[in-house]
Amino acid sequence: MNYKTILNEIQPTTKEKEQIHTLSNNLIKYLNRILKEQNINAEALLVGSVAKNTFLRGKSDIDIFINFPLSTPMDQLKELGLKLGYQCSEEFNGKAEEHYASHPYLTSCIDGYDIDFVPCYKIKSAKQLKSAVDRTLLHTKYITSHLKEEQKSEVLLLKKFMSEIKTYGSEFKVGGFAGYLCELLILKYGTFEKLLENAQNWNYGIIIDLEDYGTGKNFNDPLITIDPTDENRNVGAALRLEKMVDFIIASRNFLDETNNDKKSDYFKPLNKKQKISTSEILKKFKDRETHTLLLKFEIPEIPPDSLHPQLNKTMESITEKLETKDFSIFKSDYWTDENKLAIFIFELNVYKQSKYIIHEGPKIWSKKSCDNFKNYRGDKLYSIDDLLVLTKERKFKTPESYINYILTNENIHNIKIGKNLKDLIIATYDLDLIENFLSNKNFENYSFKKDFLN
Ligand code: CTP
Ligand code: MN
Repeated sequence: MNYKTILNEIQPTTKEKEQIHTLSNNLIKYLNRILKEQNINAEALLVGSVAKNTFLRGKSDIDIFINFPLSTPMDQLKELGLKLGYQCSEEFNGKAEEHYASHPYLTSCIDGYDIDFVPCYKIKSAKQLKSAVDRTLLHTKYITSHLKEEQKSEVLLLKKFMSEIKTYGSEFKVGGFAGYLCELLILKYGTFEKLLENAQNWNYGIIIDLEDYGTGKNFNDPLITIDPTDENRNVGAALRLEKMVDFIIASRNFLDETNNDKKSDYFKPLNKKQKISTSEILKKFKDRETHTLLLKFEIPEIPPDSLHPQLNKTMESITEKLETKDFSIFKSDYWTDENKLAIFIFELNVYKQSKYIIHEGPKIWSKKSCDNFKNYRGDKLYSIDDLLVLTKERKFKTPESYINYILTNENIHNIKIGKNLKDLIIATYDLDLIENFLSNKNFENYSFKKDFLN
């Protein structure tokens, strides 16, 4: 496999590198100047993939961390961080937006680049950690001093491969491999290909412990990568099992391919690979003889890392409840643009119920219980074995009728719902069938689990 051609496409161009570094330098110079002018004891530093020179062409955000001494009160750090971010963003005609990680930070789009301004504490070791983002400085130092020049290309190949198989990024939306984790994996195995060879045979709970801390047993995660800068942290904590599995299987497939053209496909965006038409997608759904419902609704303005768990929880709860009503779910999932809209998708194997069910009452042995049941249920009772039962009409014969029932103020308590979603889902939801939905939408724009096409 000739990786040179691929590197030529994914390495940042000289011009891009120059632009990014010039812009970063200017921003940092400006920040450090105003810090001095305002007599603030803090320092702006470049961190993340730009500082480490491990960023992909056309993709990079610029991470600027403003380091405060440990004695700074947290409130002050948060406030100053935002203030300085806004000031810098204004000076460079940026478009600013507030975000929340462990504390608020500012993202600003300047000259087409996304800049993160993050306030943090200046720590020398993880033992001094005061906020979750403080480790980033240590990470940047560790990678800059350990990753060899030629390994930076290996990191790029890995990041690109991960992006295309949709396992790159540790944000909740993806649940995949963080950039820092990719770098540590290259440090561990040396090259992209060596990593893939090893990943083919990873087991659940594999421990990667570059500094031999021996703390791996303390974690119960699918992939345990001990942070070289903090023996008590698993860098892979946010990695979901399914994403680790996707990576292992992609590694096996990639190494199995004998044809180099097919190998290079792993580094190409989906739309340059095979495109699947709407009618082919519909054919797949039709062939399964399932019934696929889409539940669309508006979402509140909350940070993505709080939105996703809430969507997931609500979707899972509706799925479970439908099962208890005798519907059978083949697959379900959610999608969101993280801005206005979310969609749940429920594909059902069993989606229509007959009119009656047998409602079981008490065993006949206790006369008193039977009398109570009779008082409550009327007299159309009969027995099956030693149970008193009655045939009664089902309340919900279709999944739609159940969903319409629970998505009301009176009945929403029947499901576990994300606390910020409740009002909007009731007020704005809309049910659609996949056949309808696909008549004017491109399914591939919605990153539901690719499984829906299998
Ligand atoms: N970070 C971390 N754990 C995460 C996410 C981020 O420790 N789950 C830290 C890392 O030190 C990382 C820095 O925050 O280097 C910046 O995060 P991000 O921009 O997501 O990663 P980069 O390494 O800059 O990679 P890239 O931007 O190229 O994706
Ligand atoms: Mn970054």
